[in-house]
Amino acid sequence: MLAGNGLKKSKMNNLGEGNKLMPESVTIKVRDRGPYLVSGPVKLVDSQGNEIDVGDCDDFVLCRCGQSANRPFCDGAHKQAEFEADRSGS
Ligand code: FES
Repeated sequence: MLAGNGLKKSKMNNLGEGNKLMPESVTIKVRDRGPYLVSGPVKLVDSQGNEIDVGDCDDFVLCRCGQSANRPFCDGAHKQAEFEADRSGS
């Protein structure tokens, strides 16, 4: 379940005793009629190259509809806007 700020706890791979928890590779999933779900160790930066804080989360959703009041994150506004998009990610 995602919080209203578009962030959720990260998934980590446990490589065993003596090894650090290592993040999975980055995946960006296009959700039908919804945001982009970004999972994995990625740094999010603004147009000036400044890092955008995603807290201790590696997974977050980015607004695709343009309706979020918390851009670049999705806040769920796409549902009220009845956002439509095809499955190609456009
Ligand atoms: S995609 Fe969710 S608010 Fe835009």
